[in-house]
Amino acid sequence: MDKIVYKLQKEVKMKIAVIQGPNLNMLGIREKNIYGPMKLEDIHKQMKTFAEQNRIEIEFFQSNLEGEIIDRIQECLGDVDGIIINPAGYTHTSISIRDAISAVQLPTIEVHLSNIHQREEFRHKSLIAPVCAGQIMGMGPFGYHLAMVGMTQILNEVQAMKQAQMAGKQA
Ligand code: DQA
Repeated sequence: MDKIVYKLQKEVKMKIAVIQGPNLNMLGIREKNIYGPMKLEDIHKQMKTFAEQNRIEIEFFQSNLEGEIIDRIQECLGDVDGIIINPAGYTHTSISIRDAISAVQLPTIEVHLSNIHQREEFRHKSLIAPVCAGQIMGMGPFGYHLAMVGMTQILNEVQAMKQAQMAGKQA
């Protein structure tokens, strides 16, 4: 039985949306002592390689505008299986981005390059974290890789549960 479930999971293709908030387009230029030298496009290249190796479809989006980020989250409904998001400065202020994540009900992982708890007090609170499956911070660009691994695990579990439910109905 286990073997059959595993085989079915392998055949299912996952789709993940990666959403990057304001100023992350300036990685590699911006406060390198905090965020490191790597550019956003290079982080995305690494994620794409992992995605290709694991049969994951991946889409990248960056915006400096709150409304555009909300629109992108809404578009994920019915289109992607999971969201990886670094809401950047909006992490600490945006009730509307949090509401959009709650609305679509997709597994979401929040990523921060820096450890927000080591920084100014206004960064300690994330309005987004309570509606996410998990939060990864302080690991630099590697955090995005960890998020991909975590999302793969979550989506495999969701898929296995769906298949077990279907098998139960058929029995
Ligand atoms: C950040 C942390 C935020 O506090 C900050 O506003 C950012 C980047 C990070 O990845 O460490 O823009 O999300």
